[in-house]
This record gives sequence, C-alpha cells and structure tokens, in this order.
Amino acid sequence: MYPIWEVPNLSAGIILGIIATFHILPSHLSVSAMWFNLYVETKAYRENRPEYLEFIKKYTLLLLVFAYVLGSLSGVGIWYSATVANPRGLSGLIHNYVWGWAAEWVFFIVEVIGIFVYYYTLNKVDIKTHLKIGWIFAIASWITMIIITGILSFMLSPGKWPQTGNFFDGFFNQTYWSQLSVRTTVMFGIGAGYAIAVSARLKNDDVRKLIVKTASRWGIAGLFLGALAVQWYLKTLPENAHGLLGSVVPKGLKTGMVVSFGAMILYFVYAHIKPLAIRIVPAILAIAVLFVGIWSAERVREIIRKPYVISHYMYSNQIIGSDVRSKGVKAEADLINERGILKIAPFVPSGLRDINEGNKLQAGKMIAIIECSSCHVLDENGLRSLPKMMKRLGFKDAEVVEGFLDALAGFPYMPPFHGTAAEKKALAAYLVSFNK
Ligand code: HEC
Repeated sequence: MYPIWEVPNLSAGIILGIIATFHILPSHLSVSAMWFNLYVETKAYRENRPEYLEFIKKYTLLLLVFAYVLGSLSGVGIWYSATVANPRGLSGLIHNYVWGWAAEWVFFIVEVIGIFVYYYTLNKVDIKTHLKIGWIFAIASWITMIIITGILSFMLSPGKWPQTGNFFDGFFNQTYWSQLSVRTTVMFGIGAGYAIAVSARLKNDDVRKLIVKTASRWGIAGLFLGALAVQWYLKTLPENAHGLLGSVVPKGLKTGMVVSFGAMILYFVYAHIKPLAIRIVPAILAIAVLFVGIWSAERVREIIRKPYVISHYMYSNQIIGSDVRSKGVKAEADLINERGILKIAPFVPSGLRDINEGNKLQAGKMIAIIECSSCHVLDENGLRSLPKMMKRLGFKDAEVVEGFLDALAGFPYMPPFHGTAAEKKALAAYLVSFNK
C-alpha cells in the first residue's frame, strides 16, 4: 500500500483518463499513419507521380512532432499518473507483464528510430529502399499495439491467469482479439482524420483531392469495421461487465460514442464528395470530435471493470480481493477485518490508527480516502461525489449507514467494506456528517 493521491473535485482516475485519452490520438495515429503513407508512396512509385511525396513529407512531419513528441510525453504521463493513482495495481501489472513491456519498448525504439530515418531519407534514398523503411516502421508500430492490448485487456478479463499465473493465459484472454480488432480498425479512422487535416495544407490540388478522397474512404471503412468490432467486443465481455454497461455506465458516455461516430462518418462522406472544400479549422474540429468518442469509449472501458482495477485480483481501491494461488497472493479481507485498515495501511497519520471519540470523524474520513476515493470524490463536486450521494440518499442515522456499508458487497460495482466494527462506525459517522 502507498499514499493516496487525492485530487479535489476531480479524482486521480480522471487525470489519468485525460492523459490516457489524449495519448490514444498520437499512439493510434502512429500505428495507422504509416500504412496510409505506404499506400500513397507505393502509388507514387507505380504511377510515377513524385508530387504525391509532398503529402508524405507533411504527414510524416506531423507524425514525428505530434506522435513522437506529444505522444511520447503523454505516454510517460500515463506511467507517472498511473503510478500515483494506483501504485499497487500498476505494480501488479508490472510483476506479471514486465517482459511484455520490455518487448513493447524494443519495438517502440524501432519506431522512434524508424520515423526519423523515414522522414530524413525521403527523396534521399531510392524509393524502394524508402518503402522498406516504411514497412519496418509500420509493422513494428503495430506490434506495440498487439502487445499493449494484451496487458490492457488482461485488466478486464484475466482469463485463466488467476488459476495458472501463466503470462499467455492472461494475455490472450477472452476480450483480447476483439479489443485488438477495435483498435486496429478505429486507428484508420484516426489516421484518416489527420491525413485530411494535413491535406488542407497541400499546394497541389490534384494531390489534395487524391489524399482527401482516399483518406475519407479509409476513414469510413475503419470506423464502419470498428463499429462491427465493437459489437464483437461487447459479446466477449464478462457477465459482470455486461451488467454494468446496462446499469452504471452514464447515458452521456454512450451518446458521446454514438454521436462522435455518426459525426465522423458524415464528415468523411462530405470530405469524399467535396475534397477541396475541407479547411484546416474544421479538420481540427473533426479531430476534437474523435477525441470525444475515444474519451467516452475509454471511460466506459474503465467503468465496466469495476469494482476492480485488475479483475478477480485487486479492487480499484488497491485492496486484494481474491486469492491468486499460482502467485502465492492472498485475499486481504480477513486480515483487514481483523486488524483494521487504519492499522494495516502504512500511510495513516499516527493519531488516527486508534479510533476514539475525539478523532472519530477524522478517522472515518481517512477510511473513506483509502477505501472509497478511487471512485468517489469527497467534495461536493466531481466524480460520484460522496457528499452528494449521501444527501440524495438522505441517511441521517449512523446505524442505517452501517447497514449500507454491510451491503456494499452486494453492489456489482463496489468492493465490500473492509475493516473492524469500530472502523465501520467511524466511516458511518463521517458519511452521516454530510447530512447534518
Ligand atoms: C470501484 C469503485 C467504487 C468504490 C471503491 C466505491 N464505490 Fe460507491 N459507487 C460506485 C459506483 C460506480 C456507484 C454508482 C454511481 C451511480 O449510480 O452513478 C457507486 C454508488 C455509491 C453510492 C450511492 C448508492 C445508491 O444506491 O445510490 C454510495 C452511497 C456509495 N457508492 C458509497 C461508497 C462508499 C462509502 C465507498 C467506500 C467504502 C464506496 N462507495 C466505494 C463505485 C465505487
């Protein structure tokens, strides 16, 4: 256990979510863009149209700056924010998938070097060699996605891993292939959005037309196949996740996904019909619309994993929820219920380890910070505000709240309360204090 990162009015998870969603734009662009480049460059080579290379140059520069400066920074940002938002969850992942990440970084290094080589050798080496460099980049780039998706999908559906502890049992789990398909298809929608934005800066109208028409077709195909892949993904979800999709996932997020998808399809169709009408500002707005869709989809993916950060292993509040025998890991409920969360969590101010009448409310707040704040802010505003929820429920009697805490285990999206009877009383007293 580690100190808790409490972000007033927002929550640590949302900060991580903002960085991670932003990261999808450059990362998925990076994986898809080179396929588009290869297509255009091969066409330039076959049809002997060197003017197409103007696009390649601009698109690759965007890739270099946006994906490999902002993308790399936000990638590091994910590591930093995940480390402080959920250190134990991240540690659990690293302990299982350190070699997965090591392999990913090897391919990432190939990408980073590849993009510079590809950009700076354009027009300097013969086009066949240049295409080979592009292929190496494109394949290395896709392999990073193949690897990272295994780790991401493991968090939602760890497959046979809890029994066997085997790397690949967790990696190739029931949502792996469907999630990889979603990312592999949607990335072409993202790449197409950027390609159209870049084309608005091209001087040659013929090239512009070709790029916008091709990109819009790729975009429509990518999003359309992506929508099919999403249907498949939904079918592969574990039962609990399905239930949460119907109950706790806010309507706004579903609307966000559908509206963003619909708007992007219309945009691509319009671009296809009027390729020369696209200007840079609307093209950037289209990318913002994509962002909304990705934000919604990623939030949904987070929510349907509740109450866990790693399903069937660790709850969002970092308490280990089940035995993982293959790894010698034991569930912590008995230990915490017997000794108390305030005794076990290492970063508790010393005056709060033992509860008495004088520190009861403060101790209760400390317990809420440890056990509830990964999903609820303790302020009036922000993610699932606890004060607001308590006011809505109108609980005024601490005993009723104790009953509610006993019932937490029955909610499909909340971990059970962990702690001693005195701690439950302190937390109840703190929660009731919102209604006084
Ligand atoms: C893993 C995430 C998670 C954790 C940890 C968590 N909750 Fe929740 N809680 C939720 C979700 C999701 C909802 C549903 C919110 C909604 O309906 O929009 C919820 C709802 C609630 C509600 C409203 C219930 C109702 O019937 O309307 C209360 C009260 C609540 N939580 C209290 C707590 C307390 C107290 C803790 C800590 C002991 C806690 N939660 C820990 C995710 C969590």
